[in-house]
Amino acid sequence: MSKKPTILVTRKLPANVEARLLRDYDARLNADDRLYTSAELLDLSQDTDALLPCHTEHLNAALIAQLPDRIRAIANFSVGVDHCDLEAAGQRGIIVTNTPDVLTDATAELTLLLILGAARRASEGERLIRAGAWNTWSPSFMLGTQVTGKRLGIIGMGRIGQVTALRARGFDMEVHYHNRRRLPRSQEHGAIYHDTLESLLPQAEFLALHCPNTPQTQNLFNRAVIEQLPQGAIVVNSARGNIVDEDALLAALRSGRIAAAGLDVFKDEPHIRSEFAELDNVFLLPHLGSATRETRDAMGFRALDNLDAVFAGREPGDRVA
Ligand code: DGY
Repeated sequence: MSKKPTILVTRKLPANVEARLLRDYDARLNADDRLYTSAELLDLSQDTDALLPCHTEHLNAALIAQLPDRIRAIANFSVGVDHCDLEAAGQRGIIVTNTPDVLTDATAELTLLLILGAARRASEGERLIRAGAWNTWSPSFMLGTQVTGKRLGIIGMGRIGQVTALRARGFDMEVHYHNRRRLPRSQEHGAIYHDTLESLLPQAEFLALHCPNTPQTQNLFNRAVIEQLPQGAIVVNSARGNIVDEDALLAALRSGRIAAAGLDVFKDEPHIRSEFAELDNVFLLPHLGSATRETRDAMGFRALDNLDAVFAGREPGDRVA
């Protein structure tokens, strides 16, 4: 019987996923879910055939250059691959895959939660109750912004942006979007395309960021963008923290130029800037976009489908490098 390929799994994965890993591979699991340092990652990868990392591992060019020659694949447990230097992997002939599609619904769901939570002051209200500070109801108490019927601008109309648009229509929102390419009309479902940000932004009473983190999108949401939004716009980010110039966002939240923000992602996770937590008009979540049991199982199985293909000599379905 030929030896099973050895897989280094960098984080603790759902039980069903680990069971399949142990059945089909010589899997090196991380039972304690401890975040490995780069040195540990390199050390542990010495006698392995593939890595199964998450976005929490920084697979930069320097680390990839030191991976042993026998590593054939990096099968990411994530749709985002900004933590992984694809060019460096490509140069070494290492196949890289991700897990698209399976986290689209969960992330779009969470985007709606951010929109509603920020607009209706959900965490502020909850904190008030938990602090025992709710004294009375009054017509002017904790007024928020109504979501129904408002204009939603979406930057990045990929899979998650499109499902966010569909869900937002359940609130009768008018959807506007900017994307590198216009969608075919059959996929727009009435959403209005803007070929520039300058055209989109003045429409966006709500703005949802759904673009990937690339050198082109870093700090894309900055002061100049904020100045083009309607006064009191609400912004939500369930994509990546790097897209947002956090100084500019904090200043706009303090001045009220932006009425509220819903943030699930930050530049330096999990060390988020304390100023965010000091502001009442921010609804904060700790990178929970794909965090449902169903989705995390599906992400793991998708990563394993990709590994199975690599070790069977087939092209993996989700190859990104
Ligand atoms: C993703 O898949 O990119 C999510 O952010 C979780 O890693």
